[in-house]
Amino acid sequence: MNDHLRGPLLPPSRGPLSAAVTSYLRGTGPLPRPADAAAADPYGDDLQLALYLCYELHYRGFAGVPPEAEWDPELLGVRAALEQRFGSALRADTPVHDSLDQALAALLVEPVEGTGVSHFLSAEGELWHLREYAAVRSLYHLKEADPHAWVLPRLWGRAKAAMAAVEYDEFGGGRAERMHARLFADLMRDLDLDTVYGRYLDAAPAEMLAVVNLMSLFGLHRELRGALVGHFAEVEITSSPGSRRLAEAMRRTGAGPAAEFFYDEHVTADAVHEQVVRHEVIGGLLEEEPELAPDIVFGIDATEYLEERLGRRLLDRWGAGRSALRTPLAAPEQPSPEAPETHRHRQMSHTS
Ligand SMILES: [Fe+2]
Ligand SMILES: [Fe+2]
Repeated sequence: MNDHLRGPLLPPSRGPLSAAVTSYLRGTGPLPRPADAAAADPYGDDLQLALYLCYELHYRGFAGVPPEAEWDPELLGVRAALEQRFGSALRADTPVHDSLDQALAALLVEPVEGTGVSHFLSAEGELWHLREYAAVRSLYHLKEADPHAWVLPRLWGRAKAAMAAVEYDEFGGGRAERMHARLFADLMRDLDLDTVYGRYLDAAPAEMLAVVNLMSLFGLHRELRGALVGHFAEVEITSSPGSRRLAEAMRRTGAGPAAEFFYDEHVTADAVHEQVVRHEVIGGLLEEEPELAPDIVFGIDATEYLEERLGRRLLDRWGAGRSALRTPLAAPEQPSPEAPETHRHRQMSHTS
């Protein structure tokens, strides 16, 4: 089987819930009781990893885990309990705007100068920050646009046609080498990161798992199709200015041409996607199902809420001069002494 399809190894667990799910997937132990999920920290490492493991069975799965595990009824029962805990916490904690117009307008307000992650990276990010950022984000970008494809059968008319058009771009417009997930793997190569799917799952903090789990939650539940569309709008609307700053960061640090290209591509592509999502996907969905407006707002605001939590984790750790990952990355490979001066060499001077 193609390496890309084999699935990553199951990661180490982060507590009793994820340990039980892992051993069940290995066929060596029982599942956690749903009551255990109800008592766990909804944003903590243990619950988020347990939920991530359940969701990943719908993407590439894990090496050694039979594909039938995807529809194992007992595992689905545990997944439902984990979703219930996470979803109800999000409903309680997300500051939700009063209207869709307000939620969309808020996305255009830039954070106070220098307070966002992309502001920090463009102004003063060093290569080690960029490597950590890419490793964390790889959990999504190596399956970029996959969770959003699940919404297609749940849409109709203008919303469906427009969503498919944006997804077509995300999947490379018919060219495998232009798939955004592939462009991100190219970026990772420039940054001396391992491009194997799932490689940085264990390094990623719970805050990033929650961001990806949110997409899977919205994508896998037809009932949450409005929230998925809201989530997608948040991503597309905030992407273009953020990508401009990240492209600047890649250029300033000499990260490499593919690293610059990934974000340059998103500056232009997402400026268009933003308009299509606003007017056609959201507009079309509301034309068909106007009662979904509050769900769209929730999707936007819950995404913002979790992205802010992730941003705080990264900036707090970096501000203290520490790695934001659970386990710091290994330094890039040393070039051999006789190797000519290469762009890899430049990277070393920035990586502490
Ligand atoms: Fe993209
Ligand atoms: Fe996009």
